[in-house]
Amino acid sequence: MKRDLVSLADWSAEEIWEALDLAAHLKRELRSGISHEHVLRGKTLGMIFQKPSLRTRVSFEVGMTQLGGHALYLGPDDIRLGERETVEDIAIVLSRYVDGIMARVFEHEIVEELARYATVPVINGLSDLLHPCQALGDMLTIWEKKRVLSGLTLAFIGDGNNVAHSLIEASAKLGLRFRIACPAGHEPKLEIVDAARALGAEVEILHDPKQAARGADVLYTDVWTSMGQEKSAEERRHAFHGFTIDLNLLETANPGALVMHCLPAHYGEEITYEASRAPGSAIFDQAANRLHAQKAVLALLLA
Ligand code: CP
Ligand code: NVA
Repeated sequence: MKRDLVSLADWSAEEIWEALDLAAHLKRELRSGISHEHVLRGKTLGMIFQKPSLRTRVSFEVGMTQLGGHALYLGPDDIRLGERETVEDIAIVLSRYVDGIMARVFEHEIVEELARYATVPVINGLSDLLHPCQALGDMLTIWEKKRVLSGLTLAFIGDGNNVAHSLIEASAKLGLRFRIACPAGHEPKLEIVDAARALGAEVEILHDPKQAARGADVLYTDVWTSMGQEKSAEERRHAFHGFTIDLNLLETANPGALVMHCLPAHYGEEITYEASRAPGSAIFDQAANRLHAQKAVLALLLA
C-alpha cells in the first residue's frame, strides 16, 4: 500500500525516527562522497505549487537529482489546480506519469484530496494548515545539535500557523514540550492542540513571550503574515507587536538555546537580524536539513 506524508499526525513515532535516522545517514554519506543515485533511478516526482517557494522547491528538486531521479515543477499557471481541472482528475492523471506527488497548496483539503485519489505517494509541501516537511527537517536539526529530543522545551513565539501546527504534531510524537506565545485570537487550532494532548503531550498556550521563553531549549518563530493572508498584514503587524525574538528574549531562554526560523524571515518583525545571527542560531542548518529530511521521505515513500 502507498504511504503519504500529508500530516505528521499520520506517522508513528517509529516512522518519524526511521526518517530522521535515514536522513542523518544519507547526509553523512553525501558528505563522504557516497552516491545514492541508485535509490530512485528513473523515478519522477511531480511538484505542484500554488504558492511561491525557495527552500521547498530547490530541496525537493536537488534531492530527487541526488537520489538519481527527476523532479518536475508545476507552477501556479501550469495546471491551475481546481480551476482548469478538478483535483481528483489531476491526481488520477498525474499518477499515470509520475512516481510521487509533492504539493504546496492553500486549503489543506486539496492535499488531502490529492492523497485520496492519487495512486502514488503524496507529500505535503505546505498547506494553510500544516508544514510537515519543515517540522521533520527541524527535528533533525534539533537532534543534531542537542543529541536528544524527548524532554526538551520548544517555545514558539508568534502565530499559531501551519509551521506551529506541524511542530506541535512532531513534538507530541517525539516527546518535546511545546509552548506558544501568541496574541489572543492567533492561537493554534484547538483540534491540533487537543490531538497532541490526547497523545500525552504537554502543549501550553501563552500570551507573553518572556514567559514562554523562560527555560526553553529552542526559541522558534515564523512570519506574522503567512502566504495567502496578505490582506491582513497591517492588522497583524499591530497584533503581533512585541512578539519578536530579539537578543533580550534569547537571554531569558536556557543557556545554549537554539534560535530557529523556517524562513523566509521578515527581519525587524518576528525576529531581529541580530538574533538570527546569534551563536545559537540554527536557521540556515534548518534550511539545509530540509534537503536531507526530504530525501529520507522520498526514499521511504517512492523507492
Ligand atoms: N521554509 C520553507 O518552506 O521555505 P519556502 O517557502 O521557501 O519553500
Ligand atoms: N507560515 C509561512 C511559512 C512559509 C514557509 C507561510 O505559510 O507563508
